[in-house]
Amino acid sequence: MCGIVGYSSLKTNAVDVLLQGLATLEYRGYDSSGIAVFDNDQLNIIKSKGKVSLLKEKVLKHHLHASNGIAHTRWATHGEPNEINAHPHHQGSVTLVHNGIIENYHELSLQLMQEGYQFHTQTDSEVACACIDAAYQQTKDPLAALQAAQTQLKGSYAFAILFDEYPEDVYAMRFDSPLILAQDDTASYLASDIPALLPYTKQYVVLEQHEIAHLHKAAIHLYDAHGNEKEPSFQTTTMDVQAIQKNGYAHFMLKEIHEEPQAIKDTLHAFIHDGIHSNLERPFDYARYEQIMIVACGSAYYAGMIAKELIESEARMHVQVEVASEFRYRNPLLDERTLVILISQSGETADTLAALKLAKEKKIDTLAVVNVIGSSLAREAAFVAYTMAKAEIAVATTKAYAAQVALLSCLALKFALLHGNMTKTRKEQIITQLHQLPDLLEEMLEKDDWSESAHRLADHEHIFFIGRGLDHALCMEGSLKLKEISYIHSEAYAAGELKHGTISLIEQGTPVIAIANEAALFDKTISNIREVKARGAQVILICRQDFHVHKELFDHLITTPPLDRMVQTILTVLPLQMIAYQTALLRGCEIDKPRNLAKSVTVE
Ligand code: G6P
Repeated sequence: MCGIVGYSSLKTNAVDVLLQGLATLEYRGYDSSGIAVFDNDQLNIIKSKGKVSLLKEKVLKHHLHASNGIAHTRWATHGEPNEINAHPHHQGSVTLVHNGIIENYHELSLQLMQEGYQFHTQTDSEVACACIDAAYQQTKDPLAALQAAQTQLKGSYAFAILFDEYPEDVYAMRFDSPLILAQDDTASYLASDIPALLPYTKQYVVLEQHEIAHLHKAAIHLYDAHGNEKEPSFQTTTMDVQAIQKNGYAHFMLKEIHEEPQAIKDTLHAFIHDGIHSNLERPFDYARYEQIMIVACGSAYYAGMIAKELIESEARMHVQVEVASEFRYRNPLLDERTLVILISQSGETADTLAALKLAKEKKIDTLAVVNVIGSSLAREAAFVAYTMAKAEIAVATTKAYAAQVALLSCLALKFALLHGNMTKTRKEQIITQLHQLPDLLEEMLEKDDWSESAHRLADHEHIFFIGRGLDHALCMEGSLKLKEISYIHSEAYAAGELKHGTISLIEQGTPVIAIANEAALFDKTISNIREVKARGAQVILICRQDFHVHKELFDHLITTPPLDRMVQTILTVLPLQMIAYQTALLRGCEIDKPRNLAKSVTVE
């Protein structure tokens, strides 16, 4: 949510580096963007509504020679997405870009207006800029000004900051929104996320809460909240530059779906061999917990629905699953026998982090299921299990979601072996099938079972997904994927629930995607398919090869290899993602960067 890049160098290539960084971070927001650089000590701020490519056209016309600057790609929170509200903002001697939300911006703005500041935008970020400038004008010392401003600003922020009188320097500070730093022989860098740094280095430093960074050419100075200088502690990312290139695929989403077999293979391998990492002095103990609370947002929440069904049915433990934005403001009933599982691709989602904080305050054990190594959630949870999907660039998650489902299925298996009554034969069969999954996914990818579905869906504005049990949880994700990237309205229903009202919307030709992979519920789901078919629906049926369905009950059939239900969902995710992708393609949608969305939602 909002991408920030900062750069200070011995060379005069700041414009290229900043624009390249913004293009890489565009998945974090893309309603407007902007750049601020010093050319011969002269500050230049250039902004544009819309995508980074539009900013680039504008900036290149100015032929700037700059060795340092800051840049931003925005996902609007305060103020509409237009050029005025785009970052950077400037007040007095200070220019800044911001990711986060300043909660007390209104009070601060009243106070600052009394001091003579005038505001030209509708953003909280411009108020933060004035707040820092007011502190700076007292001492003319950037570090002291940033320390003072931190005591006044409430909310979340990652800032990259320029001071007019220090045209060779870039400053940064953060609280609850991510920022990382890096350096090489000629320059120092800051960015919201690792992909922006990959063309230059694999070593990075995580800026911690309230820390302040000072970038001067190739040097980084780091200060704690009290102004004490500290040594930067470098980490090495395993991500490589291939992750941020499409490698011949038309879209990142398509590339990432094709990376699913590898993502699942790596995730299963890591879970089986490394188990669950502990940030405490004690190891993770499966036997310690009697109930589980799963908390997440978006697709991660739907992965949680699958985990709930699997753990509850196979391990006979109480499991609840809740969206993080609700959980964080309730007073949930948790006790020392509860494990709170937080699921997140990015590990930076504000609501999920707040849920983690709440669980920690209540002294409840937390397990983060996260894709980004070293992310806030991974560092702050008591225990961590990593999905190994590697970098995901398309805003709509695919391989990271599939990896979450794979990891959670393994977790469910562990609990089932401890608390359930699974036979040795079934356990061995599940493990064999888990190992077969990557090959089965490759085989499915080689077939094109989705084009026909996409042609059936592309001209419709309302679509239904129906399924029972695990299939219902999958329907939720299938429907979200389709909505996110094709802008077709769809609803996912527990198949038996449709008749309690919503079936009134089924008319001649309404597309219904039905999943019928749950063996124990197969006949029931088939009855529900009959209900919609009788009302004129055209049915796209996804079910196991070994399940036989009368031809008159579907218009198009997609079959999946038959697997144990602990494994089946991991595979069935794929057709849903491909249907969404192909449909969005036919509708000419902006697949990798759907309107209004951002990949990493680091604000509430
Ligand atoms: C945003 C994205 C969704 C994602 C959700 C949770 O809303 O658009 O695709 O599922 O955040 O993100 P997380 O990084 O916590 O998995």
